[in-house]
Amino acid sequence: MGPRASPLLPLLLALLGHPDPGRAEGCDLQPVTAEPPITLSYATSTVPWGCVSSSSLGTEHEVHILNVEWSKASAFPLKVSVVPRAGGCTRQAVLVLLCARCSATVTSPCSDLLVHTDAHLSPGTTMTRPELPMATSEGQLLAWARRTYGGITSYSKLRDPRWVQLRLGEDANKHPECIPKEHFNAMPHLETEVFFHGMKGCSRGDAQSAGAAHIVRLQAESSFPVAEVNLSLSCPEGAMSNQILILQSQANLTWSLSVNNCHIQFLVSGNYKIAHISSPLLPGEHLPDTEQGLVAKAFEKNYSVIASYSIIPTSARVSLEIQEHGEVPASSSPCPAEAVRRASLPHTLLFMLQPWKCTDETMEIVIARSHLEPIKDVVNITLRDISCQAEKNATHFMLKTPLSHCGTSLEGRGHANNEVRWGAGQGSAPIPSDVAFQCNIPRELFLRLFPTATFEVPQTELEVNKEAFVQASMRWEDHPADLQLKECWLVALGQEPVLLVQGGEARGAGVAVLEGPPSSRGRKVWRFRFTYTVPEGGRVPFSATLKCKAGLQNNTIFEKVLEVTVKDSWQPPNNRGLGLAAVLGITFGAFLIGALLTAGLWYIYSHTRPISKLQPVSSTAPASESSSTNHSIGSTQSTPCSTSSMA
Ligand SMILES: *[C@@H]1O[C@H](CO)[C@@H](O)[C@H](O)[C@H]1NC(C)=O
Ligand SMILES: *[C@@H]1O[C@H](CO)[C@@H](O)[C@H](O)[C@H]1NC(C)=O
Ligand SMILES: *[C@@H]1O[C@H](CO)[C@@H](O)[C@H](O)[C@H]1NC(C)=O
Ligand SMILES: *[C@@H]1O[C@H](CO)[C@@H](O)[C@H](O)[C@H]1NC(C)=O
Ligand SMILES: *[C@@H]1O[C@H](CO)[C@@H](O)[C@H](O)[C@H]1NC(C)=O
Ligand SMILES: *[C@@H]1O[C@H](CO)[C@@H](O)[C@H](O)[C@H]1NC(C)=O
Repeated sequence: MGPRASPLLPLLLALLGHPDPGRAEGCDLQPVTAEPPITLSYATSTVPWGCVSSSSLGTEHEVHILNVEWSKASAFPLKVSVVPRAGGCTRQAVLVLLCARCSATVTSPCSDLLVHTDAHLSPGTTMTRPELPMATSEGQLLAWARRTYGGITSYSKLRDPRWVQLRLGEDANKHPECIPKEHFNAMPHLETEVFFHGMKGCSRGDAQSAGAAHIVRLQAESSFPVAEVNLSLSCPEGAMSNQILILQSQANLTWSLSVNNCHIQFLVSGNYKIAHISSPLLPGEHLPDTEQGLVAKAFEKNYSVIASYSIIPTSARVSLEIQEHGEVPASSSPCPAEAVRRASLPHTLLFMLQPWKCTDETMEIVIARSHLEPIKDVVNITLRDISCQAEKNATHFMLKTPLSHCGTSLEGRGHANNEVRWGAGQGSAPIPSDVAFQCNIPRELFLRLFPTATFEVPQTELEVNKEAFVQASMRWEDHPADLQLKECWLVALGQEPVLLVQGGEARGAGVAVLEGPPSSRGRKVWRFRFTYTVPEGGRVPFSATLKCKAGLQNNTIFEKVLEVTVKDSWQPPNNRGLGLAAVLGITFGAFLIGALLTAGLWYIYSHTRPISKLQPVSSTAPASESSSTNHSIGSTQSTPCSTSSMA
């Protein structure tokens, strides 16, 4: 009679075995054994094994030895270029290239370069080609070189190189003997780009979507600080599929992305910009620096296949080619022309800038004219309804409209849809004239202060002893009726906070709750008026804050703070107080932060940027439909074949 396991045991083990199951559960990264879905390579000067020395200084030649190993057959011929030092090809150089069963091209402006190699040199390489001695070990090879030439300038063992650049020149300060060391920094003699073959992948068991993610992590390299990474990304011709590229690095790094033919979303840590167009530097998103965290991030964005996960050293140049065969088949792509059109410059540009910003009642678009330089002669910008034309000044196009105007549709939850159209001046090349977009409507409480009961033009100035009108509003599509205005306070420095409204009822003296417009489309609006008075003998503060909370029956609370300047018309205007730009402060649930950090908008809101303060909020609040910095190049978040068309 064996011991019988308690029926509770599996449950207990399941609980103990997953201290933090997260959303990465069900996806166990394994080495990719089949043909990898990407080709990834990066530049480096660190070789697995190598040395430099001054032993060839007194001899007739400088001697460089490259010993190439492959962990996988390379489809590319190896390119070796030998560059002379600044003074030109002064002394004869010898290259010993050990690369059995490999085809290589050796190029150099020094015509007297002597090459010993066992590689198959491709035609076009016009070097002398003395045979290589039979050397069975590294030691024998180095000994042969010493015997034959009297010294060794550099020795490098390379793994999976795509190309190698060898810079000639010797340094008297180097070691007298070339004694190879592990993980050797061969700077400034050698730079190479090597293939990374260690990628892993997995797919979530309960895969709900066919979206595939490629994750590249840069490991901090302490020996050479890299401030900027040039990443070149290329995709197969005509490919259109649901993929995301997640790039994670230390936060102080700038990514310069050069994107070729790709219809892909990306998520980047650090700062980034798009090479080749006059791109502003955009702040990325904070990304987790663990394997599990990054996989969970991909799942959160609804990409349930981790097509590739790679960790490489931080490098100034990384190249990534997405392969055709690794592609998740697009569910249907009846409109390849659309894909090509969408990948055009205006689309790339607009989706990078994301110049639209919505609140629960307005849509605003601000585009710096300098960012439109790559698109020549843009003379006017409109929305779907072409009578809604952007205003322009010397530097910007600006358009602000209520959500109820200009052809904006609110069909989707949490976002508004419209199109940016533009007219180009005469004589310019025809350009696609419209780009459909979705503008995220943050699920947060909005507070607005008005000088009159018409509630028309909001302001951020509160006048002492004068009626002010406050509107709080929010979209809550699920059950707008559940949403209540819990309380509103006026807080000024050095004074007791004043309770204005509580539980939807007026509390302070001179406060009156007003009838708001009826709820529509899941939006709820509350209004009240009050008069701000300064207590007897009190000083008029420069600024004050209006603080409101709305919430559901349960404990889900949305809080917002509106900072206003205080104007006292009885006293001469106080320049210091009035000159301060009003600052909008917002307190809101953690889940909304992403929505507000939309990278493409950073420059627009730089002077009215919301200040976020975290407030404990029910963790069961819905994960927002935050678009965050999840940008897409050349694609909309809508279906690939959207209804937009050439005008
Ligand atoms: C970036 O930050 C890391 C630490 O996170 C630091 O070691 C490195 O020197 C910094 N690099 C630059 C270019 O500031
Ligand atoms: C992911 O998919 C689910 C279910 O289809 C959807 O509710 C959610 O909004 C999607 N999330 C994102 C970030 O697209
Ligand atoms: C990165 O790319 C930019 C422009 O494409 C170029 O000017 C710069 O030299 C490149 N940096 C490196 C390290 O290759
Ligand atoms: C044009 O308008 C934008 C947005 O309102 C503003 O930031 C910018 O300073 C204005 N430029 C000029 C030259 O007035
Ligand atoms: C926008 O510019 C184009 C080209 O100059 C012009 O034909 C069109 O009438 C303009 N649209 C409006 C609404 O002014
Ligand atoms: C509160 O109620 C809303 C819907 O009315 C729901 O979405 C949310 O999960 C609830 N929160 C808690 C803590 O029960």
